[in-house]
This record gives sequence, C-alpha cells and structure tokens, in this order.
Amino acid sequence: PKNGRGNPRLRFEGLPPGDSDAVEVPKGYEQEVVISWGDPVLPDAPEFDFENQTAEAQAKQFGYNCDYVGFVPLDRGNGYGKGGRHRPQRALLYVNHEYTNEGLMFRGYSDDTATEEQIRTAMEAHGGSVVEIERVGRTGQWKPAGGERPFNRRITGTTPFEITGPAAGDELLRTEADPSGTEVLGMLNNCSGGTTPWGTFLSGEENFNQYFVNADSAPEDVREKLARYGMTGGEEGRRWNRVDERFDLSKHPNEANRFGWIVEIDPTDPEAKPRKRTMLGRFKHEGANPRITDDGRVAVYLGDDERFDYMYKFVSAKRFREGSARHNATLLDTGTLYVAKLSGNSPAEEIDGSGALPSDGAFDGVGEWVALCTDTESFVEGMSVAEVLVYTRIAADKAGATKMDRPEDFEPNPVTGKVYCALTNNSSREPGQADEPNPRGPNKHGHILEITEAGNDAGATEFTWDVPIVCGDPEDESTYFAGYDKSKVAPISSPDNLTFDEHGNLWISTDGQGKLEINDALHAVPMHGKYKGELKTFATVPLGAECCGPLITEDQKTVFIAPQHPGEDGTAEEPQSTWPFGDFPRPSVVAIWHSKGKDIGC
Ligand code: FEO
Ligand code: CA
Ligand code: CA
Ligand code: CA
Repeated sequence: PKNGRGNPRLRFEGLPPGDSDAVEVPKGYEQEVVISWGDPVLPDAPEFDFENQTAEAQAKQFGYNCDYVGFVPLDRGNGYGKGGRHRPQRALLYVNHEYTNEGLMFRGYSDDTATEEQIRTAMEAHGGSVVEIERVGRTGQWKPAGGERPFNRRITGTTPFEITGPAAGDELLRTEADPSGTEVLGMLNNCSGGTTPWGTFLSGEENFNQYFVNADSAPEDVREKLARYGMTGGEEGRRWNRVDERFDLSKHPNEANRFGWIVEIDPTDPEAKPRKRTMLGRFKHEGANPRITDDGRVAVYLGDDERFDYMYKFVSAKRFREGSARHNATLLDTGTLYVAKLSGNSPAEEIDGSGALPSDGAFDGVGEWVALCTDTESFVEGMSVAEVLVYTRIAADKAGATKMDRPEDFEPNPVTGKVYCALTNNSSREPGQADEPNPRGPNKHGHILEITEAGNDAGATEFTWDVPIVCGDPEDESTYFAGYDKSKVAPISSPDNLTFDEHGNLWISTDGQGKLEINDALHAVPMHGKYKGELKTFATVPLGAECCGPLITEDQKTVFIAPQHPGEDGTAEEPQSTWPFGDFPRPSVVAIWHSKGKDIGC
C-alpha cells in the first residue's frame, strides 16, 4: 500500500523555505485561522478591543502565544472513509498560552513604565484555553462552536490550582498566603504538553524563572537552589511583584517552588481546579507525553529545556483503567521518577564535535533510566522525596545524568513504539564537550534522538538509542538524515514540538530557523522503512513566529499548528508581522486540511 506501515511515504509536494508573512501550505491544501488572541472564550467575554484591552476582558478571551495544541473529540461522528475511522463533528481544543509579548500587545509599552492594568492583562493572557470547536461541513476545517459551550474555560496566571502528589503540603511549598502548601495561583510559561489516554491534558511549566525578582537578596540558604533554576538577578524584566508581592523572592522565596510543574487539566470538568503533579518533578518542563507500559501502567516522558539539562521518565505505580476517570485521576501521584543516563558505543576520540560519523557509522549506544525517587522513597543521598521532587535538577546532577542539548518535546511512534526527543540546539557546547548523544559542539541546529526501550516496553529501565537526524542545511556536512540522499531533503533547524501521524511519520515544528535565514516551519519525515529520513516541509509560518502545535487529528484529516509570537522582533508601533489580519500580529491556532479530503501528508 502506498502509505502502508511497511514503507510510509509522504506524498505531498514539499514547500521551499518560507520567507513570507503568512502560513504557507502545500499544493492541494487549505489553511484557516481557528481562533486568535482576544477572541471570546467565555460566554460573557467582550469583543476584542486592541486599543483598550483590560485584564477583565482578557480573563475571558483567548490568551497570547499558543504552544501545545490538544484535541479531544466530543462525539464519535460517522464512520468515515477506509477503516471506518470516527469523524467527530465537535471537539475540545486545548491550547497553552506560554507567555506574552507586551511590546506587541500594548502601544508604547516598556517594562519600566508598565501600568498595573497592563501587568494584570499580561497575567490573564498566560495559562491555557479550552475551546469547543466544530467541523466545517465535511472538511478538515474547524471553527469555534456555536450554541452552548459548557466546557469553554480560561486558565490564567491567577487561577487557583491544587498541588498534589508526594511534595504537596511540604514545607518547601508553603508560603505566607498558602500555609497549607497545597494551593497556588496560576500556571506560567506553559510550553508544550500531552494528552492522556483518559482524556486529560498535560501542560509543562517551562521558563517560570522570568517572573520572579530579587533572587540575589533571597535568604542565603536558598540562593544556590534558585540559581540552579535560573533565578539569580535583582529587580528586572517583567517585575510582576509590582502588582503581586509573591513574585519577590526576597520576601517569598518558596513561591518559586510552586512553579515548574506538570499540570493536569480535565477539560470535561470546568469547575475542577487543575492539578500541579509534584510526582513528575520540578524543572523547566517542555512537555509530557504518556505511553502505556506492557503491564498497563502509564509512563510519561519529560524534557527539561535547558542547555546541559536532562531527560526524565515517570512510571506510575498503578495501572490505567479504561473508563474509570476517578481512578485515572490518581495515576500521576504515585510511581517512580527516573532520569536518563546515556553512553555511546564508539571510542570517545571519534566524536570530535564536528558531526562527522564515528567509524561504526552511527551516533548510538545504550542508556538507563536511573530512579531518583518513588512517592515514598528517595534514592538520592541526602535528599528527601520532597526535596528530590522540588529540586529535581539537583537530584539529577547527583545521579550523574547525561547533559543534553536542551531536551524539548518527546513523542512515541504509534507504529514502532520507539520514542523520540527533540534536542533543539546548544550554542554553549564546546567541541570538547561533544559526546555521542550530543555529537556537535557547538550545536547550532539541534538533532533528534531515538530511544528504543528494552523489550519495547515503556516501563523498562534500560534502552538503546541513536541519532537519526542531525539538523541544519543539508549542504552542511555535519547534518545527517538517517542516511537518506541529502540532495532530496529540506533544511531544518531547532526542532521543538513533535507529533506523529498514524503511519509513523514524524512531524517536527521548529523554533529557530532564523539561523538559516528562513521562517520557522512544520516538517514531516518517515521514521522507518525505505523513505526514512526523507524530510520535507509541510507548512511555513509568518515572520518572527515559531511553529507550535502540531496536532494531527485521529481521523488524519486536520493538522493544527500554532504560529507563536508572530512579529516578535517588532513593536506595536513598528510591526514586523501583521499576520493574520493585516493590522497587528495576533498569535492564533490554524487548521490545515486537504481540499479533497485526503489524509494529511498523503
Ligand atoms: Fe517553550 Fe522549550 O520551548
Ligand atoms: Ca556509535
Ligand atoms: Ca518548545
Ligand atoms: Ca522552543
């Protein structure tokens, strides 16, 4: 079969590199904005008024910079096409609002003169949105649903969250405002995420350090710990402490411990507090992607997006039970947290940082998942379970984990079970610091790591690994596309978010192709079979944007992307981008579909 599981091949006509202020898609495909910053989400939301935006309005409207896009069908629709795939008519779209570009949101903005209303508006533009959407006709296009939309929800920088798991209530999480250490206001810098088999969304709090000030005058004994999480400065940047004192670390040093978690959101229970799951550790979480183990437990793959930081895996103690929402809501609170340790199988002197393949022809080797703690037992000397979970980076340092080139998104291949991690780039790796899993120093354009768990079981503690793709301009000798003919592949830099289609093709969105002087993009590449490595560009995004999402619906008829921070290098007065509506940039979610209803990419 032309798109069978043996030799998947992407038939679409790959795009040339992008340089336009638009979303470009291949011949035969169409694209349309689904929802944009400022669009109403809650029923009583006012219409967007760019010139007079308020925090109250923003709290009910779609937030800023979209990253992770999740999709849970609300109906089963009709059997559709070959194999009778379900073709839902309505669904819940979940979107992370990672951060804000105040200089594009407000005219004449500067951090120094920000008004209280502007700061509060930015807080409300963070977080996430749940939006009910409906299919347009029989196409792969989607738009916000009409009528009653009981699940629509805004989660913001001020929404109450429950802290759960072994570190909940610990001294390290208690503050003056929350002496219980179990309730925190807001989630911040939520980057990528995942969707669980039980229909909830997971969302990773990433660069939360940037919201806190005065780390340099925090109590002496916590300064080193704050520094390990990127908090070292004085009063600079956003300075949200001007409207909420908890962001001042000299006064409330534990407040920072309440950010940097994986959040679980149940989209069908809009009244429930979202939960920060401490068992999954605290670091600059990129995303969280689950896979069921052979014995029915749930493994969640986790990246810490920092230069020289680590890859993690959580494995639950209990088994997933189909249809039992109440039981499944407890799965992420007990289990084991592991960090990855990798060793190469080629002589170290053959890895010189240039990207030249070693004599065995592959960057590859073996690895182990080193247990840091369970919910009741710590395996790190001198650290309690709560300390391992709150200061996970420090625990992983002690465990001798492998320092990676900024682990971003993880994604399991639904066809082969292999798991992929995007290592986006690391300009700080010196040539002498190159190793087999991170073979270039400096690593300007990133690479993709492939993990094969022992016995292909997500619960395994040992694995083998290799590097199938080393990114960059294919004319650059240091690049590698699984041995495929490099004259036939597209340039790619800074792989970030990942997803798969049902054939086992890997879809990679990028954040940083500006280094190749081209716009960011969505690429697709087969990961097994005879066309493995044939990387093509499926979509390009507007000026200044990174390409987030991507999400391919189960019926394979739609891919959602989220061009994040369009026009980031401009200001409201001098916009670098006017996408999508020709006036000022508005971060948005876009649906792409084939005009004749073909499966995406086929
Ligand atoms: Fe928000 Fe790691 O990217
Ligand atoms: Ca090797
Ligand atoms: Ca990312
Ligand atoms: Ca990124």
